[in-house]
Amino acid sequence: MSAALRTQVGIVGSGPSGLLLAQLLHLAGVDSVVLERRSRDYVLGRIRAGVLEQTTAEILRRARVGARMDREGLVHRGVELCFGERTQRIDFSPFGASVTVYGQTELTRDLMEARDALGGKSIYEAEDVAIEGVTGGAARLRWRKDGEQHLLDCDFVAGCDGFHGVSRRSIPAAELRTHERVYPFGWLGVLADVPPVSHELIYSSHERGFALCSMRSATRSRCYVQCALDDDLREWSDERFWDELRTRLPAEAAAKLQAGPTIEKSIAPLRSFVAEPLRYGRLFLAGDAAHIVPPTGAKGLNLAARDVDQLATALIAHYRDGRDELLNVYSDAALRRIWRAERFSAWMTSVLHRFPGRTSFDRAMQIAELDYLVGSAAARAAFVESYAGTLAVTVGAAT
Ligand code: FAD
Ligand code: DHB
Repeated sequence: MSAALRTQVGIVGSGPSGLLLAQLLHLAGVDSVVLERRSRDYVLGRIRAGVLEQTTAEILRRARVGARMDREGLVHRGVELCFGERTQRIDFSPFGASVTVYGQTELTRDLMEARDALGGKSIYEAEDVAIEGVTGGAARLRWRKDGEQHLLDCDFVAGCDGFHGVSRRSIPAAELRTHERVYPFGWLGVLADVPPVSHELIYSSHERGFALCSMRSATRSRCYVQCALDDDLREWSDERFWDELRTRLPAEAAAKLQAGPTIEKSIAPLRSFVAEPLRYGRLFLAGDAAHIVPPTGAKGLNLAARDVDQLATALIAHYRDGRDELLNVYSDAALRRIWRAERFSAWMTSVLHRFPGRTSFDRAMQIAELDYLVGSAAARAAFVESYAGTLAVTVGAAT
């Protein structure tokens, strides 16, 4: 066993939550160590989210990792919604809103490089991470690497290790309530070096199921179709994927769709999940460790950024001013914001997907819901507020 390391905040997980938290803390002079189960290359190889809210972009700039996002990210001031025979654009401009399309992979790379540049410590391939002592006077993280046991003593632990991580599971069941909805379908996503169908995102609610055309650049497309949960990837040839996507798009978009070899193809299940409270003694949960949203509203990564921004502010107040009010309200304040994003993500999922056993009435309700959304200025304003994340932030309130 090697001698115990010591830091102020031990961070479990080197996804966007863990890395962004480490960065925000570092800039404020708070020391942290990041422990990650996987290799750095593995973490960088995961293709996930792509849409950043304005607030997320602002947090990233404040964390001094926004330069490449500002250069290469695509700023969008609208989305297209397709349903029945209709295609309608929702314009964000009247609300002064925009989102930035910038891949999670790129963001993760920027955060890792920023951490390297600042000399922050991250330990990859840390196996069997265990969290101890969080209800006592100090916390301790224990892990194995290269066949040796290692220890890290810290004041606080940030559980940023995603849905399947060890942090949430370290909280005794009696102390934690969980709320979950598992959807009876998944998303089949592909990445391909073909130009996007449109310069903005297209969300399509089709008779055969949901489809989404997104992008990573002017030459790289990221597209999804709703699929069965037990679909086998081997049954989804590239040709079958593009054919299915084309079928689920309106004629004009379908005509523009360029098929091409896919670089990545995977199936993700859809889930809504919230754990509460987000604090257990010295352990704080953030990002996917605390909650999951179905990807339809593009909220997962944005929620994670807001969680860690809030947690960083609270930890910095503890170290700088010796004040713990923000740490004490972290869970309640974050949960109100999280439940709002859960509501929006579940709603968007419900109006755009084909649910098993759907009746003609259910379908008519979906169309009416979408028709109301595109037809009402008030509904559009509410949509943009949630989608672009522009809900006003009231100081001291649960934002
Ligand atoms: P993660 O990115 O999951 O990072 C957690 C990190 O902790 C990982 O690197 C993991 O390896 C590590 N870890 C796990 N267990 C341990 C352990 N025991 N010890 C140490 N380290 C550990 N959101 C969208 O908005 N749009 C999308 O299209 C979209 N697609 C997604 C597809 C998939 C397959 C998944 C899983 C998520 C997707 N999301 C999407 C959600 C979005 O990517 C997440 O909300 C975001 O990654 C959350 O960041 P995080 O850092 O909290 O968690
Ligand atoms: C992307 C993913 C989403 O879940 C979404 O709602 C919009 C875009 C994407 O990967 O680009």
